Amino acid sequence: MTIGEFNSNFRSDLTELYSEEEVSSLFKIVLEELLSFDITKFYLKPDYVLTNIELEKIKKFTNELKRGKPFQYIVGETRFYGYKFYVNDSVLIPRVETEALVDWVLRENKQSKTTVIDFCTGSGCIAVTMKMKRKKWNIFALENSKKAIELAKRNSSRYYVNINYIHADIFSWNKYDEIDIIISNPPYVVESQKKFMKVNVLNFEPENSIFVADENPLIFYKRIFDISKLKLKAGGLIYFEINPKFKNPLISLSKKYKFSNYELKKDIFKRNRYIKFQK
Ligand SMILES: C[S@@+](CC[C@H](N)C(=O)[O-])C[C@H]1O[C@@H](n2cnc3c(N)ncnc32)[C@H](O)[C@@H]1O
Repeated sequence: MTIGEFNSNFRSDLTELYSEEEVSSLFKIVLEELLSFDITKFYLKPDYVLTNIELEKIKKFTNELKRGKPFQYIVGETRFYGYKFYVNDSVLIPRVETEALVDWVLRENKQSKTTVIDFCTGSGCIAVTMKMKRKKWNIFALENSKKAIELAKRNSSRYYVNINYIHADIFSWNKYDEIDIIISNPPYVVESQKKFMKVNVLNFEPENSIFVADENPLIFYKRIFDISKLKLKAGGLIYFEINPKFKNPLISLSKKYKFSNYELKKDIFKRNRYIKFQK
């Protein structure tokens, strides 16, 4: 089979599950990640005949994609803030939206000695990126999934950075020092929003990374406010990624904790996605 023929088959195999744009970027991934083939080379050599080994590799990849498995889990990594991060099915695939949260923290905080905690770290993408950009910060990262912590450790080793990982349940953890900055992208999608989500998220990404009960959508935020009451320094900052649907209830909740200041930011899709509080 030539690479040109493979391209046509690939497109017809995947059009049911993915948009044309997504199929094009998946095809580029097959070329670059699996075949070490440059897209320009493909346009120059559409008659290149694939070897049996190459065919075997791409068949396996296409079958996984057809099952709906996210390509990041198939290739075992993704990009976040310009860096490659290992991922597997024990962690949420870092989202492009979350890059803007990290960016906000980095733009506003250039001081050297700072103690930071990333609650619900998953793959470690937030903590590791911050440490790479702010070498002198003392960064803690808490997560309750042992497998996720193992993966996050691989991500920090990949970039030779030192993160203080804490394997604990946020709802029972209470051994913390004074903190300057809290950052968190906790689970925030309510169960009733499942029906709007794609099968490749629902069937493959870990449920406890994403969902919270409809009856208690702010459970993680409330817990973080409780922790901050005791341990966030006066003037300290909290940066959250949020579910736009619960922006107002979250602001009301923050008032009960005497946070008078807040600032909202929108994501690339113009939805209220990030909020900052100051103690
Ligand atoms: C939305 S994901 C965020 C992952 C990563 N910070 C990111 O932005 O890509 C939420 C993470 O919270 C973790 N988590 C869920 N319940 C937890 C709990 N009770 N205590 C600590 N972490 C928890 C999940 O395992 C998951 O890794």
